[in-house]
Amino acid sequence: MNRGLFITFEGADGCGKSTQLNLLAEYLTKKGFEVVVTREPGAKGLGEKIREILLNYDGPVSDRCESFLFLADRAQHIDMIVNPAVKAGKIVLCDRHTDSTVAYQGYGRQLPLDRIKMLNEIAVNGRHPDLTFVFDIDVETSMKRVGDDKDRMESAGKEFHNRVRYGYLEIAKQEPKRVKVLDATKTIDEISKLVIDLFEQNFGI
Ligand code: TYD
Repeated sequence: MNRGLFITFEGADGCGKSTQLNLLAEYLTKKGFEVVVTREPGAKGLGEKIREILLNYDGPVSDRCESFLFLADRAQHIDMIVNPAVKAGKIVLCDRHTDSTVAYQGYGRQLPLDRIKMLNEIAVNGRHPDLTFVFDIDVETSMKRVGDDKDRMESAGKEFHNRVRYGYLEIAKQEPKRVKVLDATKTIDEISKLVIDLFEQNFGI
């Protein structure tokens, strides 16, 4: 396989997606693929500055401002990191992307979904994930995993996080071919095997 791929990992805080992303990266690297591991918000460069504001600014932040900061980070990330890597034939594994904005700002903050989707389109400028994993977990378990040291988003409350979870499941219902939901309460090994199987089924490798 020599075409590039863009794969995204999504789900609630504490769902284990970063662990799974790293396990898939390891597996694919061993198989000889060139893999790029990245994230939103906060890939290297300017993204790190935007991430700092988004997660740690302790004054009031309007919901629309929050959305635009995530979207600004995304536009920079797509142009500077994702597109060059995919065009060079690499496999890009990205921790969070457009579905996070639909789930957190759309369903969670209850901003109009059609507008959030339109703004996402402007930010990605035609680049869409080839495959997305959503790691589904109930809010109690995810908050227990996050613990007491919560960032600004993680502190948003149980109702908010319930809406985020519902949002992800709705996204998966609407786009079943791209978005695969996995039960994040299974063991790390069980989930990793499912991720690898789904990856191989989708791309025939
Ligand atoms: P991060 O520490 O990366 O969380 P995790 O390790 O769980 O991925 O923090 C990112 C936070 O930002 C997370 O709470 C989800 C939130 N977020 C949004 O609200 N909208 C977005 O578009 C993105 C990309 C993230």
